[in-house]
Order: sequence, then structure tokens, then C-alpha cells
Amino acid sequence: MRLEGKSAIVTGAGRGIGKAIARKFLEEGARVMICDLDEDCLGAAHEELSDFGQVRSELVDVTSREAVEYLAGQAKGAFGRIDVLANNAGISRFEPFLEITDENWNDTLAINLTGVFLCSQVVAAEMRNQASGAIVNMGSTNGILGEEGLAHYNASKAGVILLTKTMAIELAPHNIRVNSVCPGFILTELQLESGMSEEAIRDYTSLIPLNRYGRVEEVANAFAFLASDEASFITGTELVVDGVRPAGSEGLVPHRLPVLYGGVYGVDHIRTFNSRLFQIRKTSVTSATRRSTRMQWVWRFRASTTPSPQAIMSLNQFTTVSPWLQSAAVSG
Ligand SMILES: NC(=O)c1ccc[n+]([C@@H]2O[C@H](COP(=O)([O-])OP(=O)(O)OC[C@H]3O[C@@H](n4cnc5c(N)ncnc54)[C@H](O)[C@@H]3O)[C@@H](O)[C@H]2O)c1
Repeated sequence: MRLEGKSAIVTGAGRGIGKAIARKFLEEGARVMICDLDEDCLGAAHEELSDFGQVRSELVDVTSREAVEYLAGQAKGAFGRIDVLANNAGISRFEPFLEITDENWNDTLAINLTGVFLCSQVVAAEMRNQASGAIVNMGSTNGILGEEGLAHYNASKAGVILLTKTMAIELAPHNIRVNSVCPGFILTELQLESGMSEEAIRDYTSLIPLNRYGRVEEVANAFAFLASDEASFITGTELVVDGVRPAGSEGLVPHRLPVLYGGVYGVDHIRTFNSRLFQIRKTSVTSATRRSTRMQWVWRFRASTTPSPQAIMSLNQFTTVSPWLQSAAVSG
């Protein structure tokens, strides 16, 4: 077992990916302290995870230094040491950049980025005394490529990735490794609660070359690897778990927005021509907000290659092709 004899903290482990990470750590022989903000799901997760090994739980908000210090103290008291910290807790809210409220901006940054900072700083001080430790932070492919409608989330995850690299450099002398895991689309309660329909999920996953969404266990496996001694010479890096995004692709378009914004803003068609995938979306001429009524068809490509004239002709069959696309095809 890869984490035999180690003890770990997993934040936001009441459900979703965090719960899967805690389960994987337990299956790999670790003793695990889980925490979450939601009392009900924390209790249910504690009960469920107890079947897999020695688990403790604490109701903790990762944005509070006091609460995080309490959490670390409880873990140290229960297990004697803290070998692994998995910073998983996070939220995401979909809203166009021009409509992000201060409250949503601050909440997203506080939980996704400041929470990682606080937990890491408190636990790393403990790890320094032990002269060993592994911290694995939850990033996202959104922190690498970005995605419309998620400026605050993307910024927080980009912050996590660079915080990880900086911590890795500064903590290396203390034999503490720090890495991040960057998942793509993983189907969890978070996604379902956002109102994604089965059709939207199908469309979204059709953009992933492996042609399916990721499973929480697949992210948990990456966390277990980076937390284990098998990754003993790996620090300051991000491990992408996303079923591949092709080079040159833009960020995925959020299919959830039509649900939230009444279809004014979002993907309308996805078509394949000459083995290339085209996203055809309706968007505002002036700005991508729900208030705008002026619409046009805009073409997006997920491949960096230029579409062939034949592809353009095929596209012409069902809608008007923008002049930009036509000239791109001719010159290509
Ligand atoms: N699901 C995906 O497709 C995906 C992709 C990339 C990254 N991620 C990241 O993975 C992590 C988990 O996502 P998920 O899909 O399992 O979400 P989820 O909502 O199912 O789980 C997140 C958990 O974090 C808890 N939490 C929220 N705020 C907290 C706080 N202040 N203190 C303590 N706990 C708190 C929630 O109560 C919840 O139990 C997040 O950081 C998310 O950004 C998810």
C-alpha cells in the first residue's frame, strides 16, 4: 500500500472528489482527517469512509486561520504527525465577467486560493518540524486555459498553480514536496447541481478526445500518486487529468450557461466536418451578457488547424459563414 503508516488531511471531503481522495488514501493505508463546511455531508462521508480505515472528521471552514489551526491540531493529536495535506475544498459559480459580484469574486478567491494558502502554511510548519511531507493542491485545467463565464474561478485556480510552484521551491529545503492536480471535466454533484442536462453533459464530453467525462476516482489516483513516496522526486509541477485537450484549443465553452441565461448565451450546435470539430455558437455582437439582444453567429474551432474550403461549404448548408472564416479557409 502506497501510503502505509502515513497520516493525511483532506479538505472539502464531505462529497465529490474530496471524498474520493479520502477513500483512496484510506485504501492505500493512510489514516485520514477529513473536513468540510457542510455538517450533513461531512457526517455521512465519515460514516461511509469508516469502512475503509481509520478516519476522523472536523467541521472546518478553510478560509478561517483559527479553524485551520484547530484542524491541524486535531490531526496531530489523533495521528501524532501529518504526512500529507490534500487541499481540495473549492467552489465555482458561472457568471459572465461583467456580472461577477464582489461577493462571488471574494468567496471564490477566499475558498479556492486563500484556503489553500492557509491550510498549507499551517500544516507546512508542522511538516518542517518532521523534515518531511507532501502537499497536493487542487488546481484545474481552468487555471491553465481559462473558460468563459468563470473568470473568478479561473483566476483562483491559476493562483493555486503558481502558489504550488513557489511553495515547492521554498519548502524543498525542508523535504516537503508540493504539487497540484489539474482535472478537466469530472462529473460530480457540483456539476449536476449547476443544472447541466444529460444533453449538455453529452455535448461537453464530446469535446474531450477520450470522449467521456472523468471519474472522481481518476482524480483521487493522481492525488495518491503525488502524495506517495513513488513521487519522491516530483515537486512544483501540475498533473493534468483531463482526457486530453488538443494543442491550440480554446477553453471549453460552458454549456451550463444556456441553463442559467435562458439560451441567450451559449453553444447552439456542435458539428464535425472533415474529422474536425466545430462549435457553432450564438453570442452577442457587443458583449456576452444576457441583456444584449443583438446576436450573430460566431464560429469557433477547437483545433489550431485551418478548416478546409470543403468544410466551409458544408457549414454553409445550414447557416451563414462569417467572412473571417471564409477568408481563413481560402488562405489556409
Ligand atoms: N468537478 C470538476 O469537474 C472539477 C474539475 C476541476 C477541478 N475541480 C475542483 O475539485 C474540487 C472539488 O470539486 P467537486 O466537483 O468535488 O465539488 P463539490 O462541490 O462536490 O465538493 C466540494 C466540497 O468542498 C466543500 N467546501 C466548500 N467550501 C468549503 C470551505 N470554505 N471549507 C471547507 N469545505 C468547503 C463543500 O462543502 C463540498 O463538500 C474543487 O476545488 C473544484 O474546483 C473540480
